[in-house]
Amino acid sequence: MLNFTFCNPVKIVFGKETIAELETLIPIEKYVMMVYGGGSIKKNGVYEQVKKALKHHDMVEFGGIEPNPLYETCMKAVEICRRDKIDFILAVGGGSVLDASKFIAASVDFDGEDPWEILVKGAEITSAIPIGSVMTLPATGSEMNSNSVISRKSTTEKFHFSSPLVYPQFSILDPETTYSLPERQTANGIVDAFVHVMEQYMTFDVNAPLQDRQAEAILLTLIEEAPKVKANPNDYNARANIMWCAAEALNGVISSGVPQDWATHMLGHELTAVYGLDHAQTLACVLPSLLRNRKNAKLGKLVQMGRRVFGINENDNEKGAEKTIGSIEDFFHSVGMKTKLSDYNIASGDAANKILERLSKRNAIYGEHEDITPDISAEIIKNC
Ligand code: NZQ
Ligand code: ZN
Repeated sequence: MLNFTFCNPVKIVFGKETIAELETLIPIEKYVMMVYGGGSIKKNGVYEQVKKALKHHDMVEFGGIEPNPLYETCMKAVEICRRDKIDFILAVGGGSVLDASKFIAASVDFDGEDPWEILVKGAEITSAIPIGSVMTLPATGSEMNSNSVISRKSTTEKFHFSSPLVYPQFSILDPETTYSLPERQTANGIVDAFVHVMEQYMTFDVNAPLQDRQAEAILLTLIEEAPKVKANPNDYNARANIMWCAAEALNGVISSGVPQDWATHMLGHELTAVYGLDHAQTLACVLPSLLRNRKNAKLGKLVQMGRRVFGINENDNEKGAEKTIGSIEDFFHSVGMKTKLSDYNIASGDAANKILERLSKRNAIYGEHEDITPDISAEIIKNC
């Protein structure tokens, strides 16, 4: 096992009618900015629940955070926070709202020239406004991690940052808030959580059997619960299980002491930046192609996953690995997710050329062995 430090300070408040607990979770003396997205919370009753719980708090609202949140929009909120001396940010929505809130929180007192430097140069953050969240879309794990991914419209770029200062102090996870998710977003969430596990599990063996089995437990649970929620979107237990899987998939537990890949995500971010595909749509196209390209390096884990997760018993490892990749594709299709760029009318050859140019400029090297050069990335995209 590799050395590691683990600390996850996020308080999780999980279950039915838990939004009411906001009243005591946020100190009464705080001046709160409630950040939300395009209005889903006003249709599913979440907005009313938040307003009711915080009726004695001083609060301003900032709506309009878009999916793949924009730097440009966040900076408008930063101005208001600075002007009004906001000292608590409550994110209410999906991963985009949470990520935007983290970036806003980190930008308000940023002492460099432009908070974009946090994303593009990894500029250091020395303070951030405290954040809490009501997470309504199980997918990103943003409710229980210190990551944020922000896009910039003017440059068509999408970058992430990470800082322990932006862990939410608490996250409320009420599975009933997810009944209103459109099928596309439910599928996005399941695929995103699945691929988060893959990025931390599908590498090479370092003798960490507990982490392997924890990762496999999340994969198996997602595979079991996905059809239940498809058949009945108001199945409380299925929604609850998926919600906890998404948080557990990216809260630092399964990555402790093991190598990590993240190439699928890095290439996915480029596809979103260039073509505007949903985050999970990009992952479902990239992952199978990446696994085929890196099959030799990942052979042991592919065979193990096939055996333990999909019940594949194949004596020939090469064939076993290919069957595992096929089963992953089948699972994505079963939730209604497409796995080819051509399904979105994108020519993979063009995409490969565009991404090669972008990655070559940055000399971007990915993968658990740091051997995925821009040329290999382009090959992977070409076969998506
Ligand atoms: O904007 P509103 O009106 O709220 O609607 C949203 C949005 O249109 C809607 N939605 C959310 N909850 C709903 C709902 N609709 C009905 N009922 C509900 N309960 O869903 C749409 C998509 O929301 P969004 O927040 O964009 O989706 P998601 O949670 O998948 O977040 C995607 C973003 O997170 C980043 C992605 O790159 C992308 O920018 N990621 C963040 C990570 C992290 N912080 O750790 C890791 C991930 O790998 C990912 O990169
Ligand atoms: Zn993701």
